[in-house]
Amino acid sequence: MDESQLLDTQRAFDSVAADYDGPRGNNELIQRMRLTLWSTVRNELPAGSRLLDLGCGTGIDAVEFAQRGYQVTASDWSPRMVERTHARAAAAGVETQVKAVHVGVHQLDQLEGGFDGIYSNFGPLNCAPDMGAVATQCARLLRPGGKLVFSVIGRICPWEFGYYLFKGRIKRAYVRAARGVTPVGMNRHTIWTQYYLPREFYRTFAPHFALDNYRALSLFMPPPYLVDFYRRHRNGCERLGRLDDRLGALPLLRDMGDHFLIVMHRR
Ligand SMILES: C[S@@+](CC[C@H](N)C(=O)[O-])C[C@H]1O[C@@H](n2cnc3c(N)ncnc32)[C@H](O)[C@@H]1O
Repeated sequence: MDESQLLDTQRAFDSVAADYDGPRGNNELIQRMRLTLWSTVRNELPAGSRLLDLGCGTGIDAVEFAQRGYQVTASDWSPRMVERTHARAAAAGVETQVKAVHVGVHQLDQLEGGFDGIYSNFGPLNCAPDMGAVATQCARLLRPGGKLVFSVIGRICPWEFGYYLFKGRIKRAYVRAARGVTPVGMNRHTIWTQYYLPREFYRTFAPHFALDNYRALSLFMPPPYLVDFYRRHRNGCERLGRLDDRLGALPLLRDMGDHFLIVMHRR
């Protein structure tokens, strides 16, 4: 991924920052996955911990954790998203607990360390140009024993594959199969994205981090862009969501889904 691709991605997220809390960035299906990351971070790290948010977006997670007693440095590559986080923290009265910084995941050398945990929600790491460098920087920024909790866009999403095949959009159906960086459209802009299987993602972190667990997010439940389908079939979809909760961490199933949630600790 080169500089111009990073800037494409930045422009894409800048262009949606104003309404990213609405259906585009925070509909019911996203909120459901968000709750899983929230409870995972709370289980892994006690209140009072120092957290780093990679790709904080409008700061929903950062403010949630600040309100629960964590100290959060919230970072993002989109300046408009950083502004939104800053404003959200001020409106919630937690501006002393949330420090919003314009730092991309490829610029983590600009930050000082001492964090107890680093989390990243909904795929900012899929936009990282060099995951090895991210792993090295996370190791520098985190105290020994500190935790990583990441939700990452996975490679195998049966819903997406079936949906786009059904629509006759064959190329789109196979987009997650691309090796390396691939363009994904949003709001007439391009997000340069790389998809991962959980194990291939972990391999990059393995020199510094031990794998604790990982699970599928939205494997049975439709992915967030099918929220209209979800609204038309709410009861059935909620049953599928319960299947995700019960079965999403099982071998094989945990390797699929719209996203996966992975937990590691610093050796
Ligand atoms: C799908 S949004 C998720 C935002 C937020 N984590 C949430 O849960 O709502 C992806 C975020 O990643 C950010 N992003 C994209 N590329 C990035 C990069 N290279 N470094 C840091 N953040 C990046 C975007 O600006 C955007 O805010």
